[in-house]
Amino acid sequence: MAPERSFPDGFLWGAATAAHQVEGGLSNNDWWRFEQEGGIRDGGSAAVACDHYNRYREDFRDLRRLRHNCHRLSIEWSRVEPSPGEFDDRELRHYRDVLSELREQGMAPMVTLHHFTSPLWFTDRGGWAAGGAADAFLPFVRRVAAELGDLVAMWCTINEPNVYAVQGWLLGEFPPARRADLRGWHRVLGNLRQAHEAAYRELKVTTPHAPVGLAFNQWLLLPAHPRKRRDRAAARTGRLLADTWPGRGGRLEKITEASADYIGLNHYSGQLAAFDPTRPGELFIRRFNPPGIPTSDFDWAIVPGWMRQVLDELKPRGLPVYITESGLATTDDELRQRFLLDVLEQVWLAITEDGVDVRGYFHWTSMDNFEWAQGYAMKFGLIEVDRATLARRPKPSAQLFARIAQSNSLPGRSD
Ligand code: GAL
Repeated sequence: MAPERSFPDGFLWGAATAAHQVEGGLSNNDWWRFEQEGGIRDGGSAAVACDHYNRYREDFRDLRRLRHNCHRLSIEWSRVEPSPGEFDDRELRHYRDVLSELREQGMAPMVTLHHFTSPLWFTDRGGWAAGGAADAFLPFVRRVAAELGDLVAMWCTINEPNVYAVQGWLLGEFPPARRADLRGWHRVLGNLRQAHEAAYRELKVTTPHAPVGLAFNQWLLLPAHPRKRRDRAAARTGRLLADTWPGRGGRLEKITEASADYIGLNHYSGQLAAFDPTRPGELFIRRFNPPGIPTSDFDWAIVPGWMRQVLDELKPRGLPVYITESGLATTDDELRQRFLLDVLEQVWLAITEDGVDVRGYFHWTSMDNFEWAQGYAMKFGLIEVDRATLARRPKPSAQLFARIAQSNSLPGRSD
């Protein structure tokens, strides 16, 4: 008989979402405006998304049936504080109902306070690139903590500060669609760090029961030829830029060194890096997928072993780790099932062989949803959503995940 490959007692199994990607009905934030301006690849918008705002009860019931015992979701700032300093009690009540429902369905809520979207009033003041951005964010944090904190199991202050700044200010893929705006990028990261630190301090006082962290995106970058010094330098430089933000006194600081009770890790993939003298604009770094490796619909290399590597790298920080996002864009659900088995095996190895204190896995995502600039083309969900009727249908991968969650272990290799 194959040996049991069990996860630690109390391991969290669930999925992650973000308000704008699933709720629908949002028209007061920067992403809505970006959609109206044609920022989305297929001309789509999140006007409807998955209509989760109205269907959260059914959605949570489905997740309970699928054995999830936790759920990561974000509270939409533009709903709760539609204009500066004015809070909408009806929306706060809505989120109380949402979190209460999760609790009733036996799922521990991890609440993200900023997942890529910001209210228009904040955007019009210059958004995260403007001075005072962190101060403008704090009243929202305070209010949410006061009104909803008792229902929150864990806080995630900011989702992927590194991705947010790069996509919005260097690559132009996210609003405000700036390209190569290095000063903006730097200011955004500095403000996000301040916002995180201030939120951390605030939440530790108001909701001491709930661990606080942020979701850090670790995109791996490995030297194309490990024996070439310049490739090693290219990989190091690329990672340094992606993994740090301006800390105290403007010095670069690792995002994972921020004040936190746990590390939230979003890990999807990575690339190889080679020194390339013809690319001064990209800091002489050429990035590419390892040849011959399968890729997802996003053209991201599928290398489950990288999960163990990034987990191992986090070990010296000495904090519990929650995998706050991991998943795959594909219409081929068999590929997703294989990926789940493989990536979870790597998580299990990191725990049992390497001693990394991983406490939970939030799959990205529960249901196919609005994938930012890509619209609805990228299918990351365990549950399919019919775009015409919005009917939900769990995929076989959802059933596989349910079996793993229920048994808190991986199936034997011959199963
Ligand atoms: C992350 C992001 C999620 C989701 C995912 C898949 O960067 O936090 O909102 O879009 O990528 O691309």
